[in-house]
Amino acid sequence: MSSVTVIDHPLVKHKITFLRSKFTDVHMFRELMQELSMFLAYEATRSIPVEETYCETPLTKTTGYMISSQLIALVPILRAGLGMVEGLLKFMPMAKVGHIGLYRDHETLQPVKYYCKLPHHIENMDVFILDPMLATGGSVSEAIKIVKEIGARRICFLCIVSCPEGVKYLQEAHPDVDIFTCVIDERLNEHGYIMPGLGDAGDRLYGTK
Ligand code: PRP
Ligand code: URA
Repeated sequence: MSSVTVIDHPLVKHKITFLRSKFTDVHMFRELMQELSMFLAYEATRSIPVEETYCETPLTKTTGYMISSQLIALVPILRAGLGMVEGLLKFMPMAKVGHIGLYRDHETLQPVKYYCKLPHHIENMDVFILDPMLATGGSVSEAIKIVKEIGARRICFLCIVSCPEGVKYLQEAHPDVDIFTCVIDERLNEHGYIMPGLGDAGDRLYGTK
């Protein structure tokens, strides 16, 4: 069974509160999403490989360590996952970025695919799937299926708000994919929205409602 890491930190709790608030405007919403994504990146990259390197300080020579961010693929699920990309690129500027376009059918809540463009040789990369919302779990499970089909093996999922139903669904569908989330909310409502949640992440990020 995959692990679920909740970023239990006062700064995260503080920022999530503003992200949830209906009084937060689109500009602030974008900034908060990027900042929260950086906390997720910090936790989710704990076990990526580093290489020893030579380093000269003003005083002496020493050993340093470098990550090879060229071997990292960020895969946001459109639209809302795009809001997390910049936050991760701040830590890993050389990462490759793929895109998977999925939307939830409003009636069935099933994911519908409309776009896919992924980096070559993803099988050699650590793949970070990005989507701020884990609701039923259908969208991210489909995205993971897509990257696995082209050979990705080391995959983890980063989200900002999740719920018990989505976590359970994803763990059962992809027990090899670790989950990093800023918070696990109470439940899904009858329309498939996370409660208390933050509403529709894509609409809030792009001001489309
Ligand atoms: C939202 C969200 C996830 C999905 C989560 O996207 O960004 O991709 O719903 O729901 P699920 O876990 O039940 O699949 P949405 O379908 O609203 O598309 P958008 O990002 O284009 O607004
Ligand atoms: N997608 C969202 O954007 N918000 C939810 O609460 C559930 C799915």
